[in-house]
Amino acid sequence: MGTPVNIVVGSHVWIEDPEVSWIDGQVLKINGKDAEIEATNGKKVVANLSKIYPKDMEAPPGGVDDMTKLSYLHEPGVLQNLKARYELNEIYTYTGNILIAINPFQRLPHIYGAHMMQQYKGAPFGELSPHVFAVADVAYRAMINEKKSNSILVSGESGAGKTETTKMLMQYLAFLGGRAGTEGRTVEQQVLESNPVLEAFGNAKTVRNNNSSRFGKFVEIQFDKSGRISGAAIRTYLLERSRVCQINDPERNYHCFYLLCAAPQEEIEKYKLGNPRSFHYLNQSKCYELADVSDAREYLATRRAMDIVGISQKDQEAIFRVVASILHIGNIEFTKGKDIDSSVPKDDKSKFHLKTTAELLMCDADALEDALCKRVMITPEEVIKRSLDPQSAAISRDGLAKTIYSRLFDWLVDKINNSIGQDPNSKSLIGVLDIYGFESFKSNSFEQFCINFTNEKLQQHFNQHVFKMEQEEYTKEQINWSYIEFVDNQDVLDLIEKKPGGIIALLDEACMFPKSTHETFANKLYQTFKNHKRFIKPKLSRTDFTIAHYAGEVLYQSDQFLDKNKDYVVPEHQDLLSASKCYFVSGLFPPLPEETSKSSKFSSIGSRFKLQLQSLMETLNSTEPHYIRCVKPNNQLKPAIFENVNIMQQLRCGGVLEAIRISCAGYPTRRAFFEFINRFGILATEAMEAK
Ligand SMILES: Nc1ncnc2c1ncn2[C@@H]1O[C@H](COP(=O)(O)OP(=O)(O)O)[C@@H](O)[C@H]1O
Ligand SMILES: [Mg+2]
Repeated sequence: MGTPVNIVVGSHVWIEDPEVSWIDGQVLKINGKDAEIEATNGKKVVANLSKIYPKDMEAPPGGVDDMTKLSYLHEPGVLQNLKARYELNEIYTYTGNILIAINPFQRLPHIYGAHMMQQYKGAPFGELSPHVFAVADVAYRAMINEKKSNSILVSGESGAGKTETTKMLMQYLAFLGGRAGTEGRTVEQQVLESNPVLEAFGNAKTVRNNNSSRFGKFVEIQFDKSGRISGAAIRTYLLERSRVCQINDPERNYHCFYLLCAAPQEEIEKYKLGNPRSFHYLNQSKCYELADVSDAREYLATRRAMDIVGISQKDQEAIFRVVASILHIGNIEFTKGKDIDSSVPKDDKSKFHLKTTAELLMCDADALEDALCKRVMITPEEVIKRSLDPQSAAISRDGLAKTIYSRLFDWLVDKINNSIGQDPNSKSLIGVLDIYGFESFKSNSFEQFCINFTNEKLQQHFNQHVFKMEQEEYTKEQINWSYIEFVDNQDVLDLIEKKPGGIIALLDEACMFPKSTHETFANKLYQTFKNHKRFIKPKLSRTDFTIAHYAGEVLYQSDQFLDKNKDYVVPEHQDLLSASKCYFVSGLFPPLPEETSKSSKFSSIGSRFKLQLQSLMETLNSTEPHYIRCVKPNNQLKPAIFENVNIMQQLRCGGVLEAIRISCAGYPTRRAFFEFINRFGILATEAMEAK
């Protein structure tokens, strides 16, 4: 990247620096291919000329609103520009038509109010300061004028601001396509109010974000012929189930549990709740409260939002009864029973929670105990009940809690969709995608694998769009332009999803074969991908594997892959809950068709996720995409801290630098012929007259 320029003694330059990514300085001496530089931090550094970039001394101190306006388009220039703007609370910057949004970690009401929406309405793109509203406006105009569907893809790592950005996009679209002065619940109001409902059940405090969405979301807003919102559909992806039973300090479980524990007294009594510290599913972490958030107030707000999205009082009562039951389930502990390898509730406290769970779920307490502590074995001769040891009973208990919770979440999404309603006659839509960004932790499991798979898919979409479209544009206009190589990640996608032979396919095979363990699965991977460029077997491990993703290498621990990929409800749990006297609970567990019940047929989460992604990609491919890349400026979640190295890494992962490189390599500004003549025709009056 970068323009070749002469670097001489006295030149102001940028050089790489391990602490701040890029540091500026002045060239003191040049010896052959090396230059000695005095950096502004006082250090003297020697660096190869090829690694030194010129610093634009005339760059406006407040930065430029579009990177393509920089005189030197290189990494340090981009970083410096973002930094200068961020210092002035200018959190948005364009790179051509990609919007970069840096999380301000503070409310900036002056840039979001109704007056701002009014300003952006219909304003030509690029005329006003960069903004999410401008992106939404372009998408809306394009939809109206070209009668084509559009999509806005919001990406970035956890805590970067995706969900907030998505909410603002939806607010703006509701502003453009809403009906003024309509009575009652309008579609756009319901779409907006679906956020607090989904957040209460699908968001949690994590290390990275106090309100982290633990699921992916694609909201499709449908418009009628006159550009009014006429329907909407929300699709969700892969809710993190493990959080229901297991959390680590300083994270929290899903918000709804804490909200319910802060509900008005009569509800607390009805559900036999109390301090969140008394529940196993909550007290594994010492974090109970969120700074500046009142759970009691949020509880009431969630109930109100539920009213607006059309969830009846009766259903709301059932929903929170189920939430309470999960807290009680978690408090049932087991100890050894009389028979070997059997288990019983540990003490009176456990018996109390068991009884309360049964009451809340409206099922038989003895049947609940059996479903937790026993498994039915069907042999050709007879049906035997086999006991589980205390440890297996606890696993069975957690399985039940996770299943109920994920069914509850799916129910909410379905309900919201049904109540908002779809417009079958809608010709065009705007889709807004808010989905987890690339993840690489110390320990990475099946969830990270699926998340990173998603990001590979989206990265390919981005590559194809930005790079291939650029190429096609030049070809179409017969402009001579040499093709720039770009990194294609099809090989990683093949490694993961190819059928047969990809990792997901091999995982499914392993899950169906009763004798498989994570060791045999890992071995199969090692053999199959011995020579794959993107697959690495770590030297010291016999079960871990590394994938070289587009954004970097990630080391996965295979030990829970098999369990986490299996999506089946224990038949005992299914029978128990489908027999509940509560319509809501039995509705979450409709009876299975005869042939599948009892046999523990396995369905694969990985494969289902792959299909969901395929369908998402098909939808996206039929739309005109717009990209917003959210950036998290620091890990302290505080305003005004701009961590260079951290941000540089995110710009790389998001393909921002690649996109800049390609637009520089071509012709970054484009004008339609007619527009061009209008504007510049005055410079060639003879030509104009001749015409
Ligand atoms: N545009 C913004 N203005 C003010 N605060 C923001 C903005 N975007 C993000 N934040 C803050 O950052 C937090 C994390 O943002 P969020 O959208 O939940 O991240 P993500 O969805 O990418 O994980 C929010 O709870 C909010 O405090
Ligand atoms: Mg989010």
